[in-house]
Amino acid sequence: MSGFFKSSIGRKVAMALSALFLMFFLIIHLAVNITSLFSEDIFNELSHFMGTNPLVQFALQPVLIFGVVFHFVMGFVLELKNKKAKGVAYAKNNGAANSTWMSRNMIYSGLVILAFIVLHFIDFWFPEINTKYIQGDMSGMHDGGFRYFHELVEKFHNPLRVGAYVVAFVLLGLHLAHGFTSAFQSMGVTAGRKKKMQTFGKLYSIIIPLGFIIIALVHHFNH
Ligand code: HEM
Repeated sequence: MSGFFKSSIGRKVAMALSALFLMFFLIIHLAVNITSLFSEDIFNELSHFMGTNPLVQFALQPVLIFGVVFHFVMGFVLELKNKKAKGVAYAKNNGAANSTWMSRNMIYSGLVILAFIVLHFIDFWFPEINTKYIQGDMSGMHDGGFRYFHELVEKFHNPLRVGAYVVAFVLLGLHLAHGFTSAFQSMGVTAGRKKKMQTFGKLYSIIIPLGFIIIALVHHFNH
């Protein structure tokens, strides 16, 4: 197993698999959050289920956190190895001649997303963990109703936070657009299927971040 991570292709495949897993998470995350635009009740019920179901909390959540950390750590390792490989003629990165701007800057878009995740966890995740597991309040209630929707809306009052979120989502889109093609390349998707995959990748990397942007903006201007 350690041999797998020591080989360049092993690391790239591990990176691609963790990326695909995170992309799947983003679909679920967007699907849950988008209900907040249509129905306060559905959003509250779903949030309560996700936040209190033992399978989600103690099986899926740790796997997700591991996936996020793994992807970032592996991203840094790949970046460092690539930097070292620059000295080797055949692996040389010739700037715009043989790579796109975004593919050379995955580490920077990745860092912005990392900064966003830190802010996002301070906004939502840590308060949740605090209420549920430190205060021991699993009811999900406040003032006689579910608290999730109000907490969400309240976070999008501040225009600075909304601005920071939107910038992060745009960079997420760019990161995904390149990441998608790269992931399928590392996993050896054959030439015939490549075009369809690329179309899917483009659509995904536009629709998912746009969905998050719409949620942030609608709550900002509506409440
Ligand atoms: C408008 C956009 C978004 C909203 C309203 C939102 C909302 C939330 C909320 C309410 C939680 C807390 C869930 C809980 O623990 O009970 C959460 C958790 C989380 N969000 Fe987001 N999110 C948004 C965008 C994103 C994006 C773009 C990413 C990734 C790049 C992301 C990654 C995460 C992660 C990793 C967690 C922790 C999941 C967990 O284990 O509970 N979120 N988000």
